[in-house]
Amino acid sequence: MAVPAMTATDGTLVRSTTVAPAAVAPATDPTVLPVAITGLGAYLPARTVDNDELSRTLDTSDAWIRTRTGIATRHVAAPEEATSDLALAAARAALADAGVDAADLRAIVVATCTPDHLLPATGPLVAAGLGVEVPAFDLNAACSGFVYGLRVAGALAATADGPVLLIGAEALTRIVDAGDRGTAILFGDGAAAVVLTAHAGAGLGPFDLGSDGSDPSMLWAAATGTRSPATPARLAAGEQYLTMRGGDVYRHAVTRMTASATAVLSAAGVTIDDVDLFVGHQANARILAGVAERLGLPAGRSHVTIDRHGNTSAASVPLALVDARDTGRLGPGDRVLVAAFGAGLTWGSTLLTWEGRRRE
Ligand code: ACO
Repeated sequence: MAVPAMTATDGTLVRSTTVAPAAVAPATDPTVLPVAITGLGAYLPARTVDNDELSRTLDTSDAWIRTRTGIATRHVAAPEEATSDLALAAARAALADAGVDAADLRAIVVATCTPDHLLPATGPLVAAGLGVEVPAFDLNAACSGFVYGLRVAGALAATADGPVLLIGAEALTRIVDAGDRGTAILFGDGAAAVVLTAHAGAGLGPFDLGSDGSDPSMLWAAATGTRSPATPARLAAGEQYLTMRGGDVYRHAVTRMTASATAVLSAAGVTIDDVDLFVGHQANARILAGVAERLGLPAGRSHVTIDRHGNTSAASVPLALVDARDTGRLGPGDRVLVAAFGAGLTWGSTLLTWEGRRRE
């Protein structure tokens, strides 16, 4: 990766003398955390927007969107709803499911790339909503955020004397240009949360997490931070919105998720036939099908929700877990392979054993 030239405050170019190290592929993390998911809950905004509604304002069609992405409809947050509101509703649902009082939580981690604000983080807002003052912070690994979060919040839970809450929450429709048919059709809003509790017999892991930040503009919202602050000129040019090179993202998603999931299976000493359910990041039904095919996943073992949720980034995997549980596809002892991919680039996979109840 080349180190970019930097512009000094007087406008002159400053060449960095730092030599960028050659990229090194991450080793798979063999850690298996003695942690169980003891509660699961979701919140989806009430309003849904189907492809026909989008086709009224965009040069697109239900047929194009279904064929190219698998999406039929998505949930959109109400104007007064922000990410922390979605996260709080999901948190309450997960706590109720676990039978845990918020006062017993030891930490709250919110995986999101669409926080309410750049600061403060969304975590403390959720904690305040729950009426607690525990450590609470955000984790941004874009669509891989929930899988990264399982590693981080799982590690916290493994050594805590109480449960830790991990929430994936996004309001992606807020950072998408509603007039850009290349992105506006893809994203939805929502949140889902898990309660993680230390449990001697449980196993969360191994993990395969990685990143490649050498080409950030492949998928980014340029004028949202300190590199190119949101000046009036940049806002007028729409640089605050998410843009991506869809084809490049697609290829990386299939390659990285497949490699990452394979690494986890190998580190765990199991094969794809040992996986009861695959829950991949819901970015595109064709990406999910491509990964499932390359993994050799037996038919019917990939849980798909993108048709109803669209791409909800860090919320997509936990929303799919809730959906799988609620539709009876997750039963006690089931081994679940999780894989995600997102902006950064980031990617991550892990294995978890479903300890919870089956809902018929
Ligand atoms: N409706 C109709 N036509 C469209 C639309 C649309 N909504 N969008 C694009 N097209 C057109 C294009 O203009 C192009 O037309 P042309 O051939 O005349 O130039 C044609 O359809 C094909 O466009 P492609 O971009 O090549 O279409 P593709 O099959 O690659 O699908 C898509 C595009 C759905 C975006 C796909 O590339 C994709 O899913 N990429 C991955 C997206 C993803 O996973 N993103 C993760 C981001 S999440 C995060 O980290 C926050």
